[in-house]
Amino acid sequence: MRKPFVAGNWKMNTDSHSSVSLAKDVAAGTSEIAGHKIDVAVIPPFVYIQSVAKVLSASSVAVGAQDIYTEKQGAFTGEISASMLRDIGCTYALCGHSERRHVIGEQDELINKKVSAAISGGLLPILCVGELLEERQSDKTGEVVTRQIKAGLAGLGAEKVSAVTVAYEPVWAIGTGLTATPQQAQEAHNLIRRLLGEMYDGQLAEEIRILYGGSVKPDSAAELMGQQDVDGLLVGGASLSADDFVAIVKGAV
Ligand code: PGA
Repeated sequence: MRKPFVAGNWKMNTDSHSSVSLAKDVAAGTSEIAGHKIDVAVIPPFVYIQSVAKVLSASSVAVGAQDIYTEKQGAFTGEISASMLRDIGCTYALCGHSERRHVIGEQDELINKKVSAAISGGLLPILCVGELLEERQSDKTGEVVTRQIKAGLAGLGAEKVSAVTVAYEPVWAIGTGLTATPQQAQEAHNLIRRLLGEMYDGQLAEEIRILYGGSVKPDSAAELMGQQDVDGLLVGGASLSADDFVAIVKGAV
């Protein structure tokens, strides 16, 4: 019932040439399935979004942004608005990615404004949540993820939240080669879905897609996707190889 969704977060990688060729290879490799069997997106650095969107315009691969700002326009030097990103062909925007939270220092309140700004600006936000290693080790995963979801969606009614995709990305699994076991992923995803059911309603909770992210590789994709509440994957490192990313997309169908 929930259509699988795989997104590749390129982070601060690629250049003007390699971003376009990677996008072309992803489109070619997923052309049989992207759009109808599975939603596929690539998330390049801001400066390459426009050229990537151009080469993907005839394909079913969507483009996302790694971040947005909370305001529509004005004196916010260095920031980029949702409407600007929509204008150049973006469909999705990550909000609260773990590196924004833990490297740049973004807090729940700012992330909440970004989720809201994405929706008002016509983008589909991907709200990222996940616990640190010490939080998992001290049994705080549920508490942390619950706080991040409640704060990230604060003030948004059900009609807006239906535009949101959630990405559960345990911080200790991002870029480390450590993947959550399929059972750990399922447990966290199920907690998030039950929480959404309590905050909104059962039907909305059943419809929202929850992606798993954290060192996803071609050989872990299918088993993660086999979990009942894992609806897709947010892929970092492995999305920089078209072969690996295409294999992950195929493994997720
Ligand atoms: P990774 O990154 O696959 O390299 O762990 C995932 C992410 O940060 O979205």
